[in-house]
Amino acid sequence: MGQMAEHIIYRHHGFLRRELPRLFQLLEHIRQSQGVDLEKAAEIEKIFQAVKQKIEKHLCDEEELLFPICRRLEAGEKVESPHMDMIARLQEMEVEHGNADRALTRMRELAGGLAASPEMAHPCRDLLSGLEALQADLKVHVEKENTFLHPLALELLQGLV
Ligand SMILES: [Fe+2]
Ligand SMILES: [Fe+2]
Repeated sequence: MGQMAEHIIYRHHGFLRRELPRLFQLLEHIRQSQGVDLEKAAEIEKIFQAVKQKIEKHLCDEEELLFPICRRLEAGEKVESPHMDMIARLQEMEVEHGNADRALTRMRELAGGLAASPEMAHPCRDLLSGLEALQADLKVHVEKENTFLHPLALELLQGLV
C-alpha cells in the first residue's frame, strides 16, 4: 500500500500539479484573446477554478492525512485519535472523484466550441487535448484509488474504531 501511495503521488498527483496551472494559464490566455466564444470561456473558467481548488485540497488530504495514517496502520503502529472523520472523508473523496470527472467532461464539451475565429483554433485545440489528457490520467488515478487503495484504507480505519 505504501508503494502504491508513493506511485500515485509521484505519477498522478505530480501530473495534476503540473497540468492544472499550465492549462489554467492557457485558458486565461484564450479568454483574453479575440475570436473566442466569451460565454463558453467564462463558464469553463468558473468550472476550472472550482475544480482546481477542490483537487488541490483533495491531493493535500490524501498526502498529509489519509496516506500517512494508512502507512502507520499498515506498519502496525498505534494511531491514537478516532478516525471516523477519515472514513467519512474517504467516502467524500470518492464523490469528489466522480465530480471531477463530470466537470472535465463539461469543460471538454465547452472547449470543443470555444474558437470563434480560425486564429484561435490552435490554442483552443491545445486546451481541449490538455483537458482530454487530464481526464484520461484522472481515470487511471481514480481507478487505482477507488478499487485498491480506498478499500484497503477503509479496512484499516475500520479496524481502529
Ligand atoms: Fe489521489
Ligand atoms: Fe483521490
